[in-house]
Amino acid sequence: MKRIGILTAGGDTPALNATIVGAVERANQHRVEVIGIIKGFSGLLNPRVPHVHLNPLFRAIPELDATRGGTILGASRDYVDGNDTEMIKKVAERLGRLKIDGLVCVGGDGTLNGMQPLREHLPVVLAPKTIDNDLGLNYPGEPNEWNRVASDNSRGYEYEKKPGRDFGLDEMVNFATPGYATAVYVTSLSVQRIRTTAESHRRIAIIEVMGRDCGMIALGTAYGQPDMILIPESPVDPGPLVERVMSILDVQKHAVICVSEGIVDVEGNNLGALTASKDPAGNVQYSGAAEAVKRILVDKIGDAFFTKQRRNESADAAIFVRKIGHTQRGGRPILFDHFYASQLGGKAVDLLLGGHHNCVSTLQYRDGSLFLDSIDANKLLDRWGNMHARPLSPTFYDSQRFLPSAKGVNYLRAIFSKALGADDVESIRHLFDGGNLVHPYDSVNVHVNRRIRRIDPNE
Ligand code: F6P
Repeated sequence: MKRIGILTAGGDTPALNATIVGAVERANQHRVEVIGIIKGFSGLLNPRVPHVHLNPLFRAIPELDATRGGTILGASRDYVDGNDTEMIKKVAERLGRLKIDGLVCVGGDGTLNGMQPLREHLPVVLAPKTIDNDLGLNYPGEPNEWNRVASDNSRGYEYEKKPGRDFGLDEMVNFATPGYATAVYVTSLSVQRIRTTAESHRRIAIIEVMGRDCGMIALGTAYGQPDMILIPESPVDPGPLVERVMSILDVQKHAVICVSEGIVDVEGNNLGALTASKDPAGNVQYSGAAEAVKRILVDKIGDAFFTKQRRNESADAAIFVRKIGHTQRGGRPILFDHFYASQLGGKAVDLLLGGHHNCVSTLQYRDGSLFLDSIDANKLLDRWGNMHARPLSPTFYDSQRFLPSAKGVNYLRAIFSKALGADDVESIRHLFDGGNLVHPYDSVNVHVNRRIRRIDPNE
């Protein structure tokens, strides 16, 4: 291969640039050119295919920095529609015109699905990223546990998963995904910071974290020591929830609850999707999980509990909700993320150059260590060729205490015990750099824009 393409699809994460850096460095070693496609698959759907040569003379362009959050290539949630054969042909022709012999897609489960229509036309590999940490399997064969059941939705079916089995940590396919560690770093710090207000004012803080239908971010937020964690994989039953909150209030006069945005009630209804809007990729956008938990607590605990003890004037005033939001997906990646993201980007290029096709570079765990490997994408797909988000295994969660189980703790320790580096701490000092007050923000988009080239669709 002489020239490969790379694109970053789906939501941004802090470690995307690190993945691109790793891919470009490996390509430089092999004297392979790397063309970055602008804005993920949206760049390929555009007849002019905006793109950037990332390694002229086999040296990375200076805008590439593994510790810069986001992606200098831009990202989007647009995908190539697998049923639109005309468009797939056009995209393949466009890649041909750019003389791209293979494509690295950096993304999550949606990207792996989106990459499938292209696999007939050129070698494709996925370098994983997602703060949700839901790309992979708890154990090999897990995709066979998904079934289609009839539904009155527009597709006529929905997916249902059989209960999973117990497994060893070394069975996990793609142990952790770049982006996850930084997200957990932010959510854990946020819990610690919000805690002091709840503690001082005798309130209940409900803090919502991202993750879609997977509770991994919420589980990792245990590092910030919330009193309870609610995850989508363990339906919220108001009785035990309120009982646990009351016993915590009894001891410490305040409580901090971390809520994953995708939590469901005992009937399986999504508590955070009361206004069911969808993003361009068709994912439900969750908006109110923490609010829903607040409503349950206000209802069940009532005003008298708070007024009697002169703690607050009402239940509504005593219980406050904060969403951590996009701060958990943004900014500088911590050591774990930029180190392993670069490695996985390099591995993806190795796979392409080694003649592998439609596969994924992965991070595996064995005997206390992490190492790089890969998996055929088909092994991640169900029998209908669809990739599902990896659910957080119930074996990682103690549903009585609403906290990680012993196995969950072991899993988290394997990722986080060395996740922060000295540079991560040092980087905080730059915040109060006097220059920040007088110099406007220097956007990387301005610099990359000068490098963007387009093809002429009429040539
Ligand atoms: O998949 C990553 C993620 O951050 C989810 O955790 C979250 O639900 C979603 O993306 C938010 O997407 P957007 O930035 O498009 O609102």
